[in-house]
Amino acid sequence: MTSTKALVLGFLSALSLSPGGHAADTPFLGFPSPWAAATDNSDPSWAAAYAKAIDFVSDLTLTEKINLTTGTGWEADRCIGNTGSVPRLGFRGFCLEDGPLGVRYTQNNSAFPAGINVAATFSRRLMRLRGEALGAEFRGKGIDVMLGPVSGPLGRTPQGGRYWEGFGPDPYLAGVAMAESIRGIQSRGVVACAKHYILNEQEMYRGIIDVRIDDRTMHELYLWPFADAVRAGVGSIMCSYNKINGTYACENEWTSNYLLKNELGFQGFVMSDWGAQHTTLGSALGGLDMAMPGDGGPSPYQSLWGGALAEAVLKGDVPQWRLDDMVIRIMAAYFKVHTGDYSSRPDINFSAWTNQTIGPLHPSSNQSFTVVNEFIDVQSDHASLIREIGAKSIVLLKNVNNTLPLSKPSSIAIIGEDARDPPGGPNACPDRGCFGNGTVAMGYGSGTADFPYLVSPANALLAQAELDNTTVFFDAISSNYDLTAVEPAASSADVAIVFAAVTSGEGYLTVADNAGDRRNLTLWGNAEALIAAVARRNPNTVVVLHTPGPVLLAEINANPNVTAILWAGFPGQESGNALTDVLYGRVNPQGRSPFTWAGESEADYGAGLLDDAENPAQPTQAFSEGVLIDYRWFQESGAKARTLFPFGFGLSYTSFRYSNLTVARANVSGDYEPAEGVTAPAPTYGVVEEELEKHVAPQGFKRIWPYVYSWLNSSEGFVAGRPGNISDFPPEARNGSAQPVLPASGASGGNPGLYEVLYTLTALITNEGKVKGTEIPQLFVQLGGQDNPWGILRGFDEVELEPGETKMVTFNLTRRDVSNWNTTTQRWEITDWAKTIFVGQNVRDIRLNATLPAPQGMSWRR
Ligand SMILES: *[C@@H]1O[C@H](CO)[C@@H](O)[C@H](O)[C@H]1NC(C)=O
Ligand SMILES: *[C@@H]1O[C@H](CO)[C@@H](O)[C@H](O)[C@H]1NC(C)=O
Ligand SMILES: *[C@@H]1O[C@H](CO)[C@@H](O)[C@H](O)[C@H]1NC(C)=O
Ligand SMILES: *[C@@H]1O[C@H](CO)[C@@H](O)[C@H](O)[C@H]1NC(C)=O
Ligand SMILES: *[C@@H]1O[C@H](CO)[C@@H](O)[C@H](O)[C@H]1NC(C)=O
Ligand SMILES: *[C@@H]1O[C@H](CO)[C@@H](O)[C@H](O)[C@H]1NC(C)=O
Ligand SMILES: *[C@@H]1O[C@H](CO)[C@@H](O)[C@H](O)[C@H]1NC(C)=O
Ligand SMILES: *[C@@H]1O[C@H](CO)[C@@H](O)[C@H](O)[C@H]1NC(C)=O
Ligand SMILES: *[C@@H]1O[C@H](CO)[C@@H](O)[C@H](O)[C@H]1NC(C)=O
Ligand SMILES: *[C@@H]1O[C@H](CO)[C@@H](O)[C@H](O)[C@H]1NC(C)=O
Ligand SMILES: *[C@@H]1O[C@H](CO)[C@@H](O)[C@H](O)[C@H]1NC(C)=O
Repeated sequence: MTSTKALVLGFLSALSLSPGGHAADTPFLGFPSPWAAATDNSDPSWAAAYAKAIDFVSDLTLTEKINLTTGTGWEADRCIGNTGSVPRLGFRGFCLEDGPLGVRYTQNNSAFPAGINVAATFSRRLMRLRGEALGAEFRGKGIDVMLGPVSGPLGRTPQGGRYWEGFGPDPYLAGVAMAESIRGIQSRGVVACAKHYILNEQEMYRGIIDVRIDDRTMHELYLWPFADAVRAGVGSIMCSYNKINGTYACENEWTSNYLLKNELGFQGFVMSDWGAQHTTLGSALGGLDMAMPGDGGPSPYQSLWGGALAEAVLKGDVPQWRLDDMVIRIMAAYFKVHTGDYSSRPDINFSAWTNQTIGPLHPSSNQSFTVVNEFIDVQSDHASLIREIGAKSIVLLKNVNNTLPLSKPSSIAIIGEDARDPPGGPNACPDRGCFGNGTVAMGYGSGTADFPYLVSPANALLAQAELDNTTVFFDAISSNYDLTAVEPAASSADVAIVFAAVTSGEGYLTVADNAGDRRNLTLWGNAEALIAAVARRNPNTVVVLHTPGPVLLAEINANPNVTAILWAGFPGQESGNALTDVLYGRVNPQGRSPFTWAGESEADYGAGLLDDAENPAQPTQAFSEGVLIDYRWFQESGAKARTLFPFGFGLSYTSFRYSNLTVARANVSGDYEPAEGVTAPAPTYGVVEEELEKHVAPQGFKRIWPYVYSWLNSSEGFVAGRPGNISDFPPEARNGSAQPVLPASGASGGNPGLYEVLYTLTALITNEGKVKGTEIPQLFVQLGGQDNPWGILRGFDEVELEPGETKMVTFNLTRRDVSNWNTTTQRWEITDWAKTIFVGQNVRDIRLNATLPAPQGMSWRR
């Protein structure tokens, strides 16, 4: 142990820190809430933004500051979330809008492929381009904050209703996708919001479930992609509905204060999920910076913040520095991504609450009718990107005897409701909350956007057939249940293409008896019987799947007449065109499965949904599987032998050879410099005048009901209904004096030493086939010892190769990539277990391997 390490350890034990320790005899580790710019932040764009934010905030009054922290109420203004404004400075309130696959609740926008599809491309380029295109569309509507991207749920259980919104259960892949998306979105002048922080892994009980998790699993799995988001400079993070170790996420001093703002050095703001705030003081002291949608509190303020927060600050329960910190964080995030001064902000030009041109500016009050929708077309040329991502996210799971690609077949049959145009149009069901009404191209819930149009598979295939003079059997077959109509068509065609689907989404909608989460992992809508019926008549049956994640396919895959299977996920508006590109070989499939496919049993996933809590009023769920989810679990358990398609699996129309692995070690130590020292004391900006009459509405101001304001209701005294009890908090919660920094902190995303490159690996990839193709080589690291999984993804690349061509791929491994989280020292550490690396086509098809040399100054245990 180095002397620096010993110092840090001594320091930690002197304070008897134990993360999240709520026990009466230990101090609260996560208090006080870290103030912005308190950590040494190495990102210059934050520093410049802070300077502007400080200028702006220093000039604000108490009630102006609070206006920027508190939503004006549900449907109080035009966006899904809106804050108050600063009329004195001509600064309108912030407009926040869902995300994450398009602008929700408007028109003339695009409907992009879902997050799970983007993950399946394994393409950093496409992740970034999609972020840029999304950012441009939100900006074009005048939106300040896009509510996305998502890596919570991460995907602990494939049944989780919102699984498809994020980037799948591998934290490394999700982290790369988060970072690329955020950089793309924010480059277009829109603040991204990484959500839902954290452990919101299922819809059932989401508002009350108490998730128990150990510190190592938190760091190595669920926190990992959020660290990448912070490192990428994300401006905001949304805390989730659930509790973590007994405390709600939006007032959790461990997850918000200690992990996010202290260890990861997050400089932006934390906003609540809609209604996920539960108290005035707990949320303020527990690290929340913006309350959304702002209403829902007790009388007379109808808000937990707004006027109630003004009272809490004036009473001294919430120190001024904490309020100032909230506003600084909000404004810094805004100035970081918004180039130019704030007078150049685009105007909001749509209303989430009506499709009419004229409507109320304040729908909840039915006030101020004017032009609220300008119907600005923000789609630009994004359709071609959407089609490209759609095609490149398709995972070819089976392809016997080159069934695919098709080449001018003389006849095809198109079978299944999921092939067809939705009869009422693609947006007939609000928030896409239905099934059986045509093709599925996104899930349901708040993570949706209205389609500008939807190219169904049938339409695209019919157009292709016309070009090829292919006979199509289609019209007679309109129901998945009418198997007699299906059979003659199936037997007449050269190729029968059968479509099958499942949907899932957010728990406020129930579809086919599923309240968000999937109750089973089988296909819906009689699809198994339909596929079997088609295959009985046609020995060349191609199955296309539109599902949010894995479904159980053992039987379908075993059917010898099913010669090809494709997973197309939730591809968005260009669904049919993207599919046709792959079926006809214009795009050689490069999609790789971002999750594991069990064959027959959902129990093979290990971790499961909690849907029958012993105490349904207080459901508790221990994530006792630790880091072993998805392939990490399959590799360790009996389920391994029953894996149908492993993580990272996907076929191509060509084949690839791997060779010549090299490993080079950088001459740097295995250890990094822990951050040390103390922060500056909490700064305050401007003064809070003590007289209550300074903080009431100006005389004659006409309030509208139920709009949320920041003014006191009375200059006579405090009147808030349930502000909370300050004696419930330890004195540290309000302590604005200099604080020790955590050893693992130091910059956005944590200690900069974590991101230093320790190893550089290279390998050669050769296209051995006859057509151009793209390979996705994947790098897995085995960290060694008993507690680590067989291997964890730590690199991938997208390599396009002409027939016969060879290219070299390079993988960098950072210190973080080869470390474990040590819960005692609260640091990432490289253990002395020998470490092996594997390079291959997927987690079960490893082509090359090597042992890593020990880092400088270390040797592996023998
Ligand atoms: C959270 O709870 C788990 C399980 O009870 C425990 O192992 C862990 O130490 C707790 N973590 C914190 C930060 O309190
Ligand atoms: C707070 O915002 C509301 C809504 O925009 C506005 O009417 C009010 O004047 C603002 N309050 C202050 C103190 O500026
Ligand atoms: C606006 O139109 C879309 C698409 O038809 C529909 O889904 C949505 O419910 C409509 N919104 C309102 C507020 O009527
Ligand atoms: C694939 O082609 C080979 C050679 O033509 C043939 O023997 C085999 O039966 C075919 N397999 C299937 C599943 O059609
Ligand atoms: C279509 O959508 C509606 C509304 O959700 C639903 O009631 C119906 O069952 C769906 N399916 C069909 C086949 O119409
Ligand atoms: C299309 O196919 C039909 C029947 O197979 C044939 O008679 C016709 O000549 C074809 N047309 C073209 C343009 O190839
Ligand atoms: C799975 O759920 C779907 C939708 O609720 C239902 O239609 C189907 O019958 C279920 N499958 C099984 C095997 O229970
Ligand atoms: C496969 O197709 C052949 C020929 O159409 C048929 O005889 C056989 O029963 C089919 N097999 C299955 C499993 O459906
Ligand atoms: C790859 O390895 C082979 C066999 O060791 C060697 O002959 C070849 O030169 C190497 N190619 C490159 C580009 O390093
Ligand atoms: C690897 O890291 C080095 C810096 O250490 C960087 O210059 C290079 O671009 C990285 N390469 C890849 C493929 O990430
Ligand atoms: C964590 O650090 C402590 C103190 O250095 C050490 O004793 C322990 O072995 C470490 N734990 C792991 C899992 O490496």
